[in-house]
Amino acid sequence: KTPDHHVPRDPRLIRLTGVHPFNVEAPLSDLYNEGFLTSPELFYVRNHGAVPEVKDEDIPDWEFTVEGLVENPLKLTLRELLAEYDQITCPITLVCAGNRRKEQNQVRKTKGFSWGAAGVSTALFTGVVMADVLKRAKPTKRARYVCMEGADKLPNGYYGTSVKLNWVMDPERGMMLAHMMNGEMLRPDHGKPLRVVIPGQIGGRSVKWLKKITITDVPSDNWYHIYDNRVLPTSVSPEESANNPAWWRDERYAIYDLSTNSAIAYPAHEEQLCVVGAPENYRVKGYAYGGGGRRVTRVEVSIDKGKTWRLGKIDYAEDRYREAGEHQLFGATLDMTWRESSFCWCFWNIDVPVAELKDAKDILVRAMDESMNVQPRDMYWSVLGMMNNPWYRITISHEN
Ligand code: MTE
Repeated sequence: KTPDHHVPRDPRLIRLTGVHPFNVEAPLSDLYNEGFLTSPELFYVRNHGAVPEVKDEDIPDWEFTVEGLVENPLKLTLRELLAEYDQITCPITLVCAGNRRKEQNQVRKTKGFSWGAAGVSTALFTGVVMADVLKRAKPTKRARYVCMEGADKLPNGYYGTSVKLNWVMDPERGMMLAHMMNGEMLRPDHGKPLRVVIPGQIGGRSVKWLKKITITDVPSDNWYHIYDNRVLPTSVSPEESANNPAWWRDERYAIYDLSTNSAIAYPAHEEQLCVVGAPENYRVKGYAYGGGGRRVTRVEVSIDKGKTWRLGKIDYAEDRYREAGEHQLFGATLDMTWRESSFCWCFWNIDVPVAELKDAKDILVRAMDESMNVQPRDMYWSVLGMMNNPWYRITISHEN
């Protein structure tokens, strides 16, 4: 029995590490077929340790604190949080910084396990705007960082990390304390009963099973903040990084905003395409996302190894929620009207004439965001294997 044998899980999920802790992604085609919103069953999971067990009857009494550089420290139960603060619902895509790490491990082994391209999922999160809670706690003049800690006790202490206080206070960044996903209570793997959701940034900042918020004037000194979620210079080898802790202490290497990324869901990697009797066009499809609230503005596909690129069509399903305007959703206000930012993945497709595709051995995709950040041709290898976003490539073959 593993420590979280009590947690129900979907057999379709692909395990990326041993039996424990639980780290999984869905098969990419299944994830894509779910559409814009991922069901909780197929939502990727990244756990560093055992899932804290919370009985349903204890949920309203789940307690967390806001302390440190504040004039008014708070101790709130979930019941009080939900009674005293307005709630919102909005769609947010979470992405693990390790998404697509497998490709890095194939070039040179990193210290991380091999995510395919399905370490990304989207849900409608319901909860309280984090800024509203912090405003009541009244951060002092010296306050600069928001440190967060979960209830999962790990070999190096509780999981924790930090983000900048001015980001949390900025309504455009939409950082929230969520208790529901797609209209139902958070599942145990996703932070039941309360988690942080930091849109546009790597999933590692969205602390699950939230117990403690500490306002500080320096970034978090939690082990997981320092030794995880960083892109060290490419010259730093696993040995060098182990021998020289100074590399890890440099906050400049900590990752926050996601990088622009995309992947092809159809065809599948190494799929054999049958063009005999097929329609005139083959529809190549996949997802793309930007970082820090930046919208993906173009997706391009190449079937000649990057010599020429074709422009794909993009569906921004997120905008349908925005256009729907404010209304009640899951007992909260659907609130995106004050968010110019884009915090969700988009789906793209492009029809490629079969006559042209039949000679191709591979298909490439790259996305660009509104700041013209385009996915690079080359991989940036780093010791933790994070933020991998070069052109996504699949190989195909053809049935004669
Ligand atoms: N929070 C706690 N308390 N413990 C964790 O192990 N993992 C982080 C983050 N929050 C983690 C955590 C990482 S690395 C990611 S990518 C996201 O949670 C994953 O969220 P999910 O499992 O709901 O998809």
